[in-house]
Amino acid sequence: MSESKITVVGSLNMDLVVVTDQHPEIGETIIGKDFTTTSGGKGANQAVALRQLGNDVTFIGRVGEDLYGTEIVENFKSRGIKLADETPVENVSTGIACVTVGHKDNSIIIVPGANEYVTPEFLEIHKNEVLNSDYVLTQLEIPIETVDYLATLCRENEIPLIVNPAPAAALTDNILESCTYITPNRLELQQLESYHPNIMDFKHKIIVTDGKEGCYYYNENNEEVRVKSFKAEVVDTTGAGDCFNGALVSELSSGKSLKESLEFSNAAGASSVTKFGAQSGMPRREEVLKILEEAEYKN
Ligand code: RIB
Repeated sequence: MSESKITVVGSLNMDLVVVTDQHPEIGETIIGKDFTTTSGGKGANQAVALRQLGNDVTFIGRVGEDLYGTEIVENFKSRGIKLADETPVENVSTGIACVTVGHKDNSIIIVPGANEYVTPEFLEIHKNEVLNSDYVLTQLEIPIETVDYLATLCRENEIPLIVNPAPAAALTDNILESCTYITPNRLELQQLESYHPNIMDFKHKIIVTDGKEGCYYYNENNEEVRVKSFKAEVVDTTGAGDCFNGALVSELSSGKSLKESLEFSNAAGASSVTKFGAQSGMPRREEVLKILEEAEYKN
């Protein structure tokens, strides 16, 4: 079990999940199969992934003044994740995500709500959590100015930072220069390339997740190195990328090599898709190790 202290700065959402056999066309109405609400948000999911793997996790984020917010705070408490500030943003709703799960894939629309109030000023109030961390992880469901300030804090204090650019948005040069790694999926990488034609100057920091193909990164000779994925019975892919990112920080912070960390993260991601819901699929360390061992045995 890792003793690392990790801080996640990011989003807290309530996921409103519809399960369906088919996605509707524009202008079409269809009958869905099931509906449920479950805690989500890329930031929260990554924090849960880290916690499940045995890390000491602090979260900097905000909820709104509603029942979703109360539920999210309770969820973190029950999991032993420290929320730096649980005071709701007055007269503002908690972030929500409309998630459609179907065809072993998902599509998501988010309404940020209180996540927009994770401002640089809010981060400043809680910056000691960042400064006392071994590793920091963030995503782009909070204002980009906050991610930029976080990047500055981490660079000035030599704290490694992973930026998961989801959903993709224009970054600042400071973010690109200050982060340790950036982890887009294939689509997000294409989007980032349109915002930053020079993004490949940062090849050495880029780790691309590629669904069932696993992931890849670039070695010191600028060569693409592929890390294979693991077979899984897919139930719900929501949160698989978040699981990957949490697992990656977990392993890197405990001193594992990048290659080893990515193999572990692929196995964690494969485990996460076998259960319904973004957070309920986040595996424990033993479950990930079992996937790795069995894969080794088969070879
Ligand atoms: O990555 C999955 C997450 O994206 C969901 O939990 C949803 O809240 C959105 O933020």
